[in-house]
Amino acid sequence: MTAVFYRGVTASYPRAAKSKGMYIFDETGRKYLDMSGGAAVSCVGHQHPRVVESLCQQISSMAFAHTAFFSNAPQEQLAEKLAAKFSDPGAKVYFTSGGSEANETAIKMAWQYWRAKDMPAKKKIISRTHSYHGNTLGTLSISGNLPRRRVMGDLLIDWPRIDPCYAYRYRQAGESRADYALRAANSLEEMIRRHGAETIAAFIAEPVVGASLGVVPAEKGYFRRIREICDKYDILLIADEIMCGTGRTGTFFAHEQEDFLPDIVTLAKGIAGGYQPLAATIARHHIHETFVTTGRGFSHGHTYVGHAGACAAGLAVVNVIDDEKLLDNVRTRGDLLQNELKTAFSDHPHIGDIRGRGLFRGLEIVADKTTKQPFPDEDNITKRLMKATMAHGLICYPGGGSMQDNLGSHILLAPPFILKPDHIAELIDKLRAIFSDVLGG
Ligand SMILES: Cc1ncc(COP(=O)(O)O)c(C=O)c1O
Repeated sequence: MTAVFYRGVTASYPRAAKSKGMYIFDETGRKYLDMSGGAAVSCVGHQHPRVVESLCQQISSMAFAHTAFFSNAPQEQLAEKLAAKFSDPGAKVYFTSGGSEANETAIKMAWQYWRAKDMPAKKKIISRTHSYHGNTLGTLSISGNLPRRRVMGDLLIDWPRIDPCYAYRYRQAGESRADYALRAANSLEEMIRRHGAETIAAFIAEPVVGASLGVVPAEKGYFRRIREICDKYDILLIADEIMCGTGRTGTFFAHEQEDFLPDIVTLAKGIAGGYQPLAATIARHHIHETFVTTGRGFSHGHTYVGHAGACAAGLAVVNVIDDEKLLDNVRTRGDLLQNELKTAFSDHPHIGDIRGRGLFRGLEIVADKTTKQPFPDEDNITKRLMKATMAHGLICYPGGGSMQDNLGSHILLAPPFILKPDHIAELIDKLRAIFSDVLGG
């Protein structure tokens, strides 16, 4: 019996009791290899002593002082560190508690920015199909993920969406990668023209799509062209790096590898590594300045904005990433992980694509590799994969809908940055057994 209103209302879950490094242990002592950091959260590993100590110190000296009345040292230090990593002098950081709040903050910033500039008609946010930006009504409104939207009936705002840059499914036969990148990006220009630039506030996209597609980096040149289009039509560009940021792809920000600078970037999950709920919305100098110089300010806020304990955990996590040079590991172990996955599963009849960047990898599962046709809905591949991974003591992140609606399955891998070759070998053994149980072959 439980009084908990679980996510899955009829589900039962093992109770997590302990964790260390790459592993979580349940109350019965069963061990789970954490190869997705939950959902790309645990980046410095579980129970890192430096993070635990910093958090305990902060909480024992000052756990909470509302940021409508006070600032606090961890918030100041972490903001300074993040702003310094973002290549726009004078950038400012707004801290919230989770990814949805960070994106909701970004949307509201975009709206209020255009109001401050006396262009209140600029309201619509263009996003992409196959996207997930959060679960508040605002962020679900800008998410393209149909199964997640459908449950909300007609409550959501229905704004324009373009297709993502997803070469595995959308690049045409004979089309070069560069031409495809350009075509995919130009669909934004078409959409802006159809609606009128005077009605569009911002465009939002993940530089590397996480849970909606199973780790899909854009083709080279896509985001440079997107930036050009946003500049041409006076539209803010929001990079959702909730999953792919904080070093996950091998650079602190995922957009660094795409050679563009967003106007607003959002971080969550890895930013405090799971030690505390924390998210950040980083705005370029010109956005913050607009609120200051027009005297309009930015009207927003939650009780836990800039929470001292959460920021202390975030500061410790980012310091560990820097001091232990964990991004070197993300790059080298990321390459090793990709090679080992390819060696083990390239010839598997149902693994259609193995892709990603750094320690952010995805395997797309198909019924037929030639036609790329997914398994039918009623086969429930995603749910069965979820069940099988837990049964084999593996935490990874199976997802659905990579083709359309519910159709298409993938597995997302986002292990902690402390991953070692032994863990990769353990992962491959477990995946072999899981694929054999669920897919056969
Ligand atoms: C890309 C992206 N944006 C936003 C969110 C929402 O974050 P949260 O669940 O912390 O609210 C998620 C969560 O999975 C995400 O993957």
